[in-house]
Amino acid sequence: MTHKFVDLFCGIGSFHYSFNKMGWECVLASDNDETVHDVYEKNYGMKPVGDIYDIDTDDIPDYDVLCGGFPCQPFSNAGKHGGFTDERGVLFLEIIRLMEAAKPKVVVLENVSALKTHDKGKTFKTICELIEEQEYTVHHKVLKCSNYGLPQMRKRIFMVCVRNDIKHDVDIFDLKEYEKEMTMKEYLGKNFEKKHAYTIRCGGARSPITSRQNWDGYTVDGNTYRLTIQDAKKLQGFDDNFHLSEDKKDNKNTWRYLGNTIPTRFTEIIGYKVKAILESHEQSSQRMGS
Ligand SMILES: C[S@@+](CC[C@H](N)C(=O)[O-])C[C@H]1O[C@@H](n2cnc3c(N)ncnc32)[C@H](O)[C@@H]1O
Repeated sequence: MTHKFVDLFCGIGSFHYSFNKMGWECVLASDNDETVHDVYEKNYGMKPVGDIYDIDTDDIPDYDVLCGGFPCQPFSNAGKHGGFTDERGVLFLEIIRLMEAAKPKVVVLENVSALKTHDKGKTFKTICELIEEQEYTVHHKVLKCSNYGLPQMRKRIFMVCVRNDIKHDVDIFDLKEYEKEMTMKEYLGKNFEKKHAYTIRCGGARSPITSRQNWDGYTVDGNTYRLTIQDAKKLQGFDDNFHLSEDKKDNKNTWRYLGNTIPTRFTEIIGYKVKAILESHEQSSQRMGS
């Protein structure tokens, strides 16, 4: 069965990448960074719209699943800890606006793991309460990339919010069947000393390998090796056919997209779970009807 989804704060579209593989259809993508629109179009054949504040909910075709890795800087340990006082934190309220208008069956949100502890947990509590007010049940878990077959230390929180009338029997965060250990050496085919890569980031590349800022420098066969765009793309789970410019003049943007994106292994696994929820609900509705 095919489902329709909306890809908010889409970047290079990790959700789209994985949901496409299940045959799902994206009805709307949005990102106010116009530089990413061409990349998105080249990979998925559709152009995102811009600022989320400009989306008229009446213009969105019907859909089942809303997803969004909303901007995380205000919540990140590396950010300024602004939380809801930061305009980007308030972008979360735009997700609520879209939820209220369409009441999609499932909403999947992603953010940095520090969202959970920001402002002593108050920010996360407010976010959950706002979602629950829309009559959804929030399930959440922090997932670590290296536990699921991608040798990167990135940790992210996933929130799977299910509309309260959707009946299902899925244990959403029982992910044992997807657990897989993988080293950089096995995955990238070079003799990396380190088992798992640091989190791919937007800035701070080329720091000395011993610096705390370093994330792209590694020891391979006794020499310093810097991750290439190809390596980072692979470490974020995108295959060779995924289009990203390697033109030097675009490098800064390309690294930013890669630093911002969600490892596709995560969106793939969460996608399987959402699919299971929707199928379980469908079956239970059929039983009730028969
Ligand atoms: C953490 S990134 C999301 C990455 C994305 N999920 C992916 O798979 O690549 C957040 C994105 O939100 C976008 N953004 C920030 N403010 C926005 C706004 N007002 N409207 C639409 N997009 C916005 C940024 O340009 C950025 O690409």
